[in-house]
Amino acid sequence: ASKDKSYWQKYGHYFVEGTGITLALAVVGVLIGTTLGTFFALLKLSSVFILKAIGNIYVEYVRGTPLLVQAFMVFFGTQAIGLHLSAFVAGSLAMGLNSAAYVAEIIRSGIESVDKGQTEAARSLGLSHAKTMRLVILPQAVRTILPALGNEFVSVIKEGSVISVIGVGELMYETGVVQGASFEPFMPLVIASLIYFVLTFTISRALGYAERRMAR
Ligand code: ARG
Repeated sequence: ASKDKSYWQKYGHYFVEGTGITLALAVVGVLIGTTLGTFFALLKLSSVFILKAIGNIYVEYVRGTPLLVQAFMVFFGTQAIGLHLSAFVAGSLAMGLNSAAYVAEIIRSGIESVDKGQTEAARSLGLSHAKTMRLVILPQAVRTILPALGNEFVSVIKEGSVISVIGVGELMYETGVVQGASFEPFMPLVIASLIYFVLTFTISRALGYAERRMAR
C-alpha cells in the first residue's frame, strides 16, 4: 500500500516541519539579534574608549568569521562549559549572536544618518543628551532602521540553513532527510529552494508595502 503513496504523502511533512523550524529560528534569531545588536550599537557609539573598543571588536570579529564556524563554536563551546542546550536553543543563540553584529551596524548607521544639525538644535534648546537621543534622533533613525531590520530578517531566513550542521531540524536539515529516504538528491533541493524563495519573496513584498505606508 505504501507504494501508492504520492511524493507529497511520503515526504510532505518533512518540508512542512522544516519550514516551521526555519521560521522559528529566524524569529528567535532576529529577536536576540535586535536586543544584543542595540546594545553593541550603543557601545560603538559610546565616547568611552573601552566601551567603544568592545563594540568594535565584537562586530568586526563576528562579521569577519563564517557563521558555519560560529554555529559549531556555540554548540560545542556551551557543551564544554557544561551547558547542554538543545540543538534549537544553541542554533538560535548562534544565529542571534551572529545577527547582533549586523544589527549593531544597522542601528549605528541609522543613528548616524540623522543630520548633526538635529542634535545641535535640540541641545541648544536645552534638551539633555539622553532626551535628544530619545525624542529627536531615534524617531528619525527608526525610518531607516526598521526597513533594514526587515531585510535582516530575510537574510536570517536564508542564513539559517547553515544551522542545519548542528542538527537543528530546519528546512535544509529535513531536505537532507528526504534526500536520504528517497535515494534521490535533486528533487528535495528544488522543493527547498522554492520554499525559501516563496518565504523571502512574500516577506520582502510585505515589508516593501509596510514601508511605503509608513512613509506617508
Ligand atoms: N554569509 C555570512 C557568513 O557565513 C553570514 C552573514 C549573514 N548574517 C546576517 N545576520 N545578516 O558568515
